[in-house]
Amino acid sequence: MKPHIQVTASRKTGTISRYIYGQFAEHLGRCIYEGVWVGLDSDIPHKNGIRQDVVEALRAIQVPVIRWPGGCFADEYHWKDGIGPAEERKTMVNTHWGGITENNHFGTHEFFELCQQVGAEAYINGNVGSGTVQEMQEWMEYMTMGGESPMANWRRENGQEEPWKVEFFGVGNESWGCGGNMRPEYYADLYRRYQTYVRQYGTDRVYKIACGANGYDYNWTDVLMKNAHAYMDGLSLHHYVVPRTWDDKGAATGFPEAEWYSLVENAKSMDELITKHSTIMDRYDPEKRVGLIIDEWGSWLNVEPGTNRGFLYQQNTIRDAMVASLTLNIFHKHAERVHMANIAQMVNVLQAMILTEGEKMLKTPTYYVFDLYKNHMDATKIDAIGTTKETTDYTVSKKGNTITASFCNYHLTEEDVVVLDIADFDIRTITAEALIGKVMDDHNNFENPENIKKEAFHDVKQEQGTVTVKIPPMGIVSVYMEGVEPNQY
Ligand code: AHR
Repeated sequence: MKPHIQVTASRKTGTISRYIYGQFAEHLGRCIYEGVWVGLDSDIPHKNGIRQDVVEALRAIQVPVIRWPGGCFADEYHWKDGIGPAEERKTMVNTHWGGITENNHFGTHEFFELCQQVGAEAYINGNVGSGTVQEMQEWMEYMTMGGESPMANWRRENGQEEPWKVEFFGVGNESWGCGGNMRPEYYADLYRRYQTYVRQYGTDRVYKIACGANGYDYNWTDVLMKNAHAYMDGLSLHHYVVPRTWDDKGAATGFPEAEWYSLVENAKSMDELITKHSTIMDRYDPEKRVGLIIDEWGSWLNVEPGTNRGFLYQQNTIRDAMVASLTLNIFHKHAERVHMANIAQMVNVLQAMILTEGEKMLKTPTYYVFDLYKNHMDATKIDAIGTTKETTDYTVSKKGNTITASFCNYHLTEEDVVVLDIADFDIRTITAEALIGKVMDDHNNFENPENIKKEAFHDVKQEQGTVTVKIPPMGIVSVYMEGVEPNQY
């Protein structure tokens, strides 16, 4: 008996925010330097110092928002060191990430240039751990003040006439750990104080995000919501998955079968986490006004042999693509509460979209999941009901005249045949695309950068009112059904 999934186009259950597809770019390893910023004198094709192959790839997946400058780095970052003539900028030691000297050539102006080139909105993470309230206030004034003011004038002197738009502002990062080792009661009070000075200088409202819990720390969420929910728009949550243990996470390639399953099964823990944190938030915020912002997530694996341990450079395989697909499906399920998510990280760090080596660049399997899922951004969730094999997962949404059903089958050897029973929708055309692993650590490298990529998919059959999809093992498939709802005639 084939699994049947009922897809009733009229059963709409909310909107999937495009911000769920956000990215995170930290001053860590080769994410910013080399991955994004090559500088004004580079031979690598760039515009104003930002490499164009990376920008083009990011534009193609319609990145909605970029979180910057960290991460742990954010709580050591002093924004005034990163403005003005590049050669006069103060250097600093990036103590968290490899102890290297940071030259501050990529600062506030360069970040907004990146956002503008990519077409993304800005999520700035402020410094609570080692920064002052005044410093945070002046950063907001520098970025967003339109009229006359000391900071706005200084911005103009540095070449930017118009204020920028800061859509999201995070008040500290991991304040329970690298951001200051605080207790939740102490941080809640600091949050209330710091956020007061994250002023809105123009008419654009800034969405303020409080530092949230580390994974399963439900007490942190309870204390923050109890003491500060009225002052926040979002509360963050960080959750990474490993196939083994935190001390020896496991290799990114060449891993045993057991670690395929342990990593993808661990990815499902995101569902439990969101459910439990959200239940606590419901007690203080039943309307779900405050968003749960998963601003760091993804797979964390051992670094590539021979690379700096502090640079967190890991390969990316079809197994990571499965983690991305399963996790995005969970975010869709909880879309009322999950207002934004930012995979860690955008280039060359952890579960990256893109890897670079000198002038070479490649797109990872995770990149192609974001590509296959593009249609779900700002789409209406369709409540699809059905039971599949345990190793198959799916999500369905509708945008414009197109219903998109995305599936992942993480079984290593067995295909899965799923029948969609379509109601309240007359299909006119169907197309599909897929990402399919040939081996469980299928990946791209600089010798073979297109070994695995998105391709057209044809194992989709339409019969009266049904659509049958044969999902290959290690396959992620998006089916695009274009048509009309009967009430649209
Ligand atoms: O993404 C890498 C690091 O993981 C971030 O800097 C920090 O916030 C988290 O612990």
